[in-house]
Amino acid sequence: MTADLLLTHFNQVFCPNDLGHPLFGAEMKEARVLEDGYIAVKDGKILAVGSGEPDASLIGPDTKIQSYEGKIATPGLIDCHTHLVYGGSREHEFAKKLAGVPYLEILAQGGGILSTVRATREASFENLYDKSKKLLDYMLLHGVTTVEAKSGYGLDWETEKRQLDVVGALDRDHEIDLVSTFMAAHAVPPEYKGRSQEYLELIVEEMLPRVKEENLAEFCDIFCEKGVFTADESRYLLSKAKEMGFKLRIHADEIESIGGVDVAAELGATSAEHLMMATDDGIRKMAEAKVIGNLLPATTFSLMEDTYAPARKMLEAGMAITLTTDSNPGSCPTANLQFVMQLGCFMMRLTPVEVLNAVTINAAYSVNRQDRIGSFDTGKQADITILDAKNIDYPLYFFATNLTHQVYKAGKLVVDQGRIV
Ligand code: NIG
Ligand code: FE
Repeated sequence: MTADLLLTHFNQVFCPNDLGHPLFGAEMKEARVLEDGYIAVKDGKILAVGSGEPDASLIGPDTKIQSYEGKIATPGLIDCHTHLVYGGSREHEFAKKLAGVPYLEILAQGGGILSTVRATREASFENLYDKSKKLLDYMLLHGVTTVEAKSGYGLDWETEKRQLDVVGALDRDHEIDLVSTFMAAHAVPPEYKGRSQEYLELIVEEMLPRVKEENLAEFCDIFCEKGVFTADESRYLLSKAKEMGFKLRIHADEIESIGGVDVAAELGATSAEHLMMATDDGIRKMAEAKVIGNLLPATTFSLMEDTYAPARKMLEAGMAITLTTDSNPGSCPTANLQFVMQLGCFMMRLTPVEVLNAVTINAAYSVNRQDRIGSFDTGKQADITILDAKNIDYPLYFFATNLTHQVYKAGKLVVDQGRIV
């Protein structure tokens, strides 16, 4: 079969192994790295990859051939945990943060997430759409082709629905593919202060069934944290969500370890997020239950903490991990997954291969898109990130600089030399 598009002579092509499950522990050390590599694309899908001169049978009269000396290619990067849609921003809290006021204290004072809730409730659909589109543009320019996006700055049906509608509209309109998560349990809304169980009942009885009915989200998530929702409350919400057919995520062990990880393991959550304070026991439970650890080192950086999630311990225990931005206006205002990947090396001592596996194949499993993306296996969508780098170590070593040269989405050139096509 001949290719529509043949990208040849990459210095290296990074090919993660899709073993039919996320890469666990030592499996994350392995990948195929094709020297002088090529990628053949047909009908927007991967037809073949290989080294050296492509087989003549791939080349027909209409095959477009492009050469990439001095560049590397990876499967399109996947940002599997973001709070993409929100009103306003939080630089007005930056001085407090720099003065050392803790994140949870700012929240307890009615700021933090609750400040973004006020701004989001006031924002129109158009305003939220435009702001989120801009963030997605930044992400695409950094080589990201799939993004998970959560609601959670409405905390009332009308605003939560507006956020999910923005995700749906952008999934249709933007080159980036979106995966939607319902997270009305991101904080206790001011009108329910001191009545968190009642708020959770409202979510379970009124919101979740509508999200399901209107097919607005695939995952359900909750912030299990001291002063926000307890482990028992998280268990209550997520078990109901599971009964209704949602896949599960949980923000756990971010600032304090209060049992969210046990809930993730018990209920078979797809992933547990953050895990900065994960304990040995929690790590063992997640490894056994095959809960993916979505790690967010730029949040640790932005919270100015030194407690990076113990990624190496997790791999030793046999866990699968990903790296992701957490892009949000408070604990992590960034859209740069490459920086997060570099923090994975610098602050967590992951290797470049482990990091690249984390943001491709493992992130694909984390957003339940493993059948379509995350590797260069034949038949997968031709999402390709091309970096201005001599080898796969280089973009992890040369930090805080956007090295994206081009991005292909489903075989179509969407970023060229720093610009959206
Ligand atoms: O993942 N931890 C809870 N939620 C977000 C922060 C959201 C915010 O600060 O606006 C997080 O860090
Ligand atoms: Fe988050």
